[in-house]
Amino acid sequence: MGTILVTGATGKLGSAVIEALVDRGINVRAATRKTTGIKWTKLVQPVVFDYEDPGLHKAALDGITGLFLIAPPLDFEAPAKLIPFIDKAKEMRVEHVVFNSSLCADSDEQNPLRIVEKHLAKSGLAYTIQRPNFFMENFAAGFLAPMIAGGKIFIPAGDNKTSFISVSDIAEVTAAAFQEKRYGTEYNLTGPEALSYGEAAKIISGVSGRTVTYFPISEMEMMQGAREQGMPESAIQYMLQLFGLVRKGVMAEVTDTVREVTGKGPISFKEFARKNADFWRVLKAA
Ligand SMILES: NC(=O)c1ccc[n+]([C@@H]2O[C@H](COP(=O)([O-])OP(=O)(O)OC[C@H]3O[C@@H](n4cnc5c(N)ncnc54)[C@H](OP(=O)(O)O)[C@@H]3O)[C@@H](O)[C@H]2O)c1
Repeated sequence: MGTILVTGATGKLGSAVIEALVDRGINVRAATRKTTGIKWTKLVQPVVFDYEDPGLHKAALDGITGLFLIAPPLDFEAPAKLIPFIDKAKEMRVEHVVFNSSLCADSDEQNPLRIVEKHLAKSGLAYTIQRPNFFMENFAAGFLAPMIAGGKIFIPAGDNKTSFISVSDIAEVTAAAFQEKRYGTEYNLTGPEALSYGEAAKIISGVSGRTVTYFPISEMEMMQGAREQGMPESAIQYMLQLFGLVRKGVMAEVTDTVREVTGKGPISFKEFARKNADFWRVLKAA
């Protein structure tokens, strides 16, 4: 089925998508700004790529059949970065674009990922849009790991629940979308159940043997903490919007889409936690 260009190839989702495509014997071109870090294999070839350097776009798209598109995380400028790249993909006759948006992005027409979704849908390209909820992997490879290392999760989510999903399940949907040419489809992707951060912390404590406690904080406290850690102001504002959705309760939605598309239900948070127990057991505070 030709070659798929995977953007965000070094990230949590991109690397899972590469694994799922390679498992199906599909050739991958793995896009990263780094010149090292992606292993060449028979099926995976790296390409240096940056949304912000249009000089690299033609070579990245040259000869590919499919494009897996992700936006740089927490980026209000996503439309300015992705829309010209979508247009270039059209010009270069890419057959199918799978865009990874995020759950509830379509509830706000001004949401940067929604703006990209709409542009893609109108582009004339064959497309699939997937909208996953918060990744379970945020608790392992992601931004929550340093908090877990310190035994305290500080998040402005109150006691509201989130139907966390594993990137491995999202990646199975992505690979199926490419392989089965699921053109013109939009998928809201969640895990099998919704949990509060307190419930997630208890599960992590149970499997890892280290005590992890959730402290619901205010938006103001989150802003202060993130600023102290040097997070860019725009990323802080983006995070606040995301946790605003959690506090509204809308991120608790559970869908059966992973099973409908792949034939296999998504893994539970407990299963994810069991797989990562050793990682948390040895995790050291910075
Ligand atoms: N994490 C979540 O809970 C969650 C939930 C729903 C949706 N999403 C969305 O899913 C996508 C993937 O998230 P993730 O958590 O897997 O991200 P991640 O692990 O933080 O990885 C981000 C990736 O973006 C790439 N990137 C950053 N700036 C770039 C640029 N200017 N040009 C090209 N590539 C660039 C990085 O590549 P290099 O550094 O190698 O260049 C990296 O591979 C994001 O769009 C995010 O908004 C995330």
